[in-house]
Amino acid sequence: MKNLLACGKNEKYVLEKWTLEKVKVSRRSKFPEENHIFFYATMRNLGKKERLLESVRDGHMDTLEILQMDVTDEQSVVSAAQKIKEQKVDVLVCNAGVGLMGPLECHSYQNMKTIFDVNFFGTISTIQAFLPGMKHRKSGKIIISSSVGGLQGVPFNAVYCASKFAVEGLCESLAIVLQHFNVHISLIECGPVNTNFLQNLQRTDPDDRRLQEMDLETRALYQQYLQHCQTIFRDAAQDTEDILQQVFMEAIKAPSPALRYFTTQFFMPLTKLKLESTNGSDYVKAMHTFVFSSNQKRDDKA
Ligand SMILES: NC(=O)c1ccc[n+]([C@@H]2O[C@H](COP(=O)([O-])OP(=O)(O)OC[C@H]3O[C@@H](n4cnc5c(N)ncnc54)[C@H](OP(=O)(O)O)[C@@H]3O)[C@@H](O)[C@H]2O)c1
Repeated sequence: MKNLLACGKNEKYVLEKWTLEKVKVSRRSKFPEENHIFFYATMRNLGKKERLLESVRDGHMDTLEILQMDVTDEQSVVSAAQKIKEQKVDVLVCNAGVGLMGPLECHSYQNMKTIFDVNFFGTISTIQAFLPGMKHRKSGKIIISSSVGGLQGVPFNAVYCASKFAVEGLCESLAIVLQHFNVHISLIECGPVNTNFLQNLQRTDPDDRRLQEMDLETRALYQQYLQHCQTIFRDAAQDTEDILQQVFMEAIKAPSPALRYFTTQFFMPLTKLKLESTNGSDYVKAMHTFVFSSNQKRDDKA
């Protein structure tokens, strides 16, 4: 029996894909019970569990348990871990995350702290809860929903990117030691994905007092960025199901998963430029052109 625990909203899709795999493997295997997967989905607000339960009503009820877990509340992470049968998680999917968008001067300390509490410290607490068991058994996979913004700066996303850069440094460092324990950690580098991310992120609104009091140039650039962001989501956003099927499942199933998986090639020229141009200036210029000149060109054409 294997246990998979996913925190955050992708659990429904991971469950569906995982169960399909399980069925395929079970049909091929002489000992199907060895391939049984028990799935734990966690959410901070159990009031939202009905939708997930509804989506699995036709078959997976006996292989799913939903646990309360707020990644910013260490006690709730520990309690969730204690409810896992045999105290054993074979695959841990850390998906909880939240965005923060706007000029840096508009962010309150509390807003910025919340982003780090969820994206960075929440990821740490979750890993800390399950890593000792994986190391002890010399087996385990940790899958982290990261972001292209964890590898390269994105204008007006400075704090979100900083939190994901921190996650990247955390996981890359851990991966080096975890080789000794046959524990694999994989970062899924997402570009824009059609989820509730944009609705849920903390954003500086145009009528925000702190924005109104800012210099005109920053306000104009922010306005341009918001337009760019809309365009990018319209043109390049992927569907959750596609990235789960093609990327998350690839990492979950791989015998020896890589540290990084990219969900899209859309930003790869910029990512490569960032890595190749060691003094950073070429990336800064190229990203500026990508975000602020494309709108200019569109405006010129209009
Ligand atoms: N969508 C994108 O374009 C995109 C791009 C790059 C990276 N990502 C990353 O992908 C991951 C998933 O985001 P998403 O796109 O699915 O966004 P989403 O629809 O906003 O889902 C985020 C999930 O995180 C959960 N969450 C937030 N704070 C939490 C906490 N303290 N404890 C437990 N769960 C918490 C939310 O729970 P509630 O339902 O209770 O709010 C929600 O289910 C995030 O790490 C995000 O940074 C997304």
